[in-house]
Amino acid sequence: MLINRRTFLAGSAASLGLTNLAMAQSPKRALPVIPLTDLTNGIDRRLSLNLQNAAHDFGTGVASQTYGINNSYLGPVLRVKQGQTLPFDISNNIGDVTTLHWHGLHIPGAVDGGPHQEIAHGDVWSPDVPIRQRASMNWFHSHTHGKTAQQTHKGLAGVLLVEDEASLDADLPKTYGVDDFTLVLQDKSFNSKGQMAYNLSGEVFEDGFLGATFVVNGAIAPLSQSLPRGLVRLRILNACNARFLELSMQTGAMTVIASDGGFLSSPVEVSSILMSPGERYEVLLDTRVAATNTLNVTSEDEGFVADLFGRDKTTPLIEFSTTSTEGFSGAIPTHLANLEPPRASDAKRTRDFQLNMDMGEDLAALAIAWDNFCGDAGAMGINGQPMKMDRIDEKVAKGVPEIWRISVDDQLHPFHIHGCSFRILSQNGAPPPAYAEGWKDMVHVEEGWSEVLVSFDHEAPEDAPYMYHCHILEHEDCGMMGQFTVS
Ligand code: C2O
Ligand code: CU
Ligand code: CU
Repeated sequence: MLINRRTFLAGSAASLGLTNLAMAQSPKRALPVIPLTDLTNGIDRRLSLNLQNAAHDFGTGVASQTYGINNSYLGPVLRVKQGQTLPFDISNNIGDVTTLHWHGLHIPGAVDGGPHQEIAHGDVWSPDVPIRQRASMNWFHSHTHGKTAQQTHKGLAGVLLVEDEASLDADLPKTYGVDDFTLVLQDKSFNSKGQMAYNLSGEVFEDGFLGATFVVNGAIAPLSQSLPRGLVRLRILNACNARFLELSMQTGAMTVIASDGGFLSSPVEVSSILMSPGERYEVLLDTRVAATNTLNVTSEDEGFVADLFGRDKTTPLIEFSTTSTEGFSGAIPTHLANLEPPRASDAKRTRDFQLNMDMGEDLAALAIAWDNFCGDAGAMGINGQPMKMDRIDEKVAKGVPEIWRISVDDQLHPFHIHGCSFRILSQNGAPPPAYAEGWKDMVHVEEGWSEVLVSFDHEAPEDAPYMYHCHILEHEDCGMMGQFTVS
């Protein structure tokens, strides 16, 4: 179970089915702290993750049918250390085939958990996952071919924090749930009974799933959290299927210290960050500056008028208040990591990818046949071809730097590559924002070329290739994905 310190709505069945507008007027519930499994001091057992059917109340007063990983919704936060090898036993008890992919980890294709590593219902998958990379915030989620969107939305996702000697020694807040918070941001829709609803239609395929209600760590926002005086660290994952989130603080700036694959060279102060689905950022707040503060999200509004005019709406996610307790008293560090600017001239070859929205197939018909809508008949693709399990699209040489250039025929898409961290050379034809100049495994693609400098340290053979894909999960399921080997 999530530690849900919820205090409201128990008796207000009449208010079920309200959207976040009405929720916003209710007394604030506490931010749930996702249970932590801290392995940084050593691993003396196999690590069991049980993928299960569960019931979870997001805050409507009614339980929704969910998937959970050891919990009623989502998985534990796993905190591990560089150099360890994680001996997982992953049991699938969800009543459907699934997979569990380690998003952000630099690991061999054989243990990557992509669509080729299916776990049948009732089976246990036991990969030994080597953690060789630097400190970084990663995550894990279902990657079942054609079912990633639905299974991840229902709860098959969790956070994996990698620490290293330097990050454990760093002069940064690191007391979990006190001055170091992991935030999993998602959007949901709730039906008139207060239950989570996810229905695919042609439109949902087109835009990806966009829910009208935000949830943080499995609880409907806005939530409240009290903070000690001093620096506080927020490790943030956008785990939405399709929604881009612009995050900002009510008062003052956000100081970004890390992106997907690790620390930035030095902190970057910004008024907001734009996070695509799948992205992670770590930020520092100084609670000595403002006694109360709110983490806000600005995102596309729903409904007819908003659809016509593309209107945005700002919603409070977490209302923070500062207590008199002294917390982490240090200052924001000036230097975080040794990170040279990317050297494009190191690249030995260039590959081009165009993400295709329009492959001339009927999305609504696919939606009706949605149980296996992807399969061999994808409606979207990359370089004119929908994903095919038995076709390898690219063969990459291990350890050789390459430039991957990505463009789109329509819309804004978040592009992700397995098995690596890369550096962004350009995003939408321009230099990336300073907070995206560090290690990344996600890049935004809308106009012009987005270019990344990438190399791979592990092998991915033909029977366990890596994936590259759009991280709008409905697009991925619809065929906007390709496969590559590394040898
Ligand atoms: Cu986050 Cu291929 O996945
Ligand atoms: Cu991934
Ligand atoms: Cu897409």
